[in-house]
Amino acid sequence: MAKILMIQGSLSKDSRTAILVRETGQALERRHLEHETLDLRDLDLQFCDGRSLKEYNRDMQNAYKKLDQARAFIFGMPVYCFSVSGPLKNFIDITSGAMENKIAGILCNAGGNRSYMASAELSKILAYESQVTVIQPTVYSSYEDYDEEGLMSEKVKSKIADMVSTLENYFNK
Ligand SMILES: Cc1cc2nc3c(=O)[nH]c(=O)nc-3n(C[C@H](O)[C@H](O)[C@H](O)COP(=O)(O)O)c2cc1C
Repeated sequence: MAKILMIQGSLSKDSRTAILVRETGQALERRHLEHETLDLRDLDLQFCDGRSLKEYNRDMQNAYKKLDQARAFIFGMPVYCFSVSGPLKNFIDITSGAMENKIAGILCNAGGNRSYMASAELSKILAYESQVTVIQPTVYSSYEDYDEEGLMSEKVKSKIADMVSTLENYFNK
């Protein structure tokens, strides 16, 4: 059975990345694609310092197991300084071994509409470190795509639907 793990990479209380992840979860449900969300805000996140996995806390080890069991990932990536946010990069540093040779989609969320290429940083990390193939399209959103009720951009919603179609095709192969 297809198992898609979504990683919500923002630690912000009012995270827009989390909204994007939630919207994508709903799109996956409409296609009956089995999925689960790992929200970094729910973890006792430790810094990567090069120790072996078994020396990290239970949350980090359980997170690694979830990644290991998944067939595909969707990363909710906040843009910090035109790149992957520190907490998400740190999480990947600890868990990249569980991602090898799988596929992933990227939901990239920034403040402005000119940081799109930040998602390429994540693609590069996943490809070079874990031979992860990043599926297309990448979804990109910025402040202007949200209102007080959440994600309102039809363009972003349509990109989410396209990404979910790509995933569905992959699982139906
Ligand atoms: C330290 C920091 C660096 C940021 N750097 C950028 C940036 O380079 N480009 C950009 O468009 N937005 C940048 N932002 C804005 C965030 O991408 C934006 O607030 C986004 O909503 C964060 O995701 P979140 O709401 O899920 O936490 C930055 C925000 C912070 C806190």
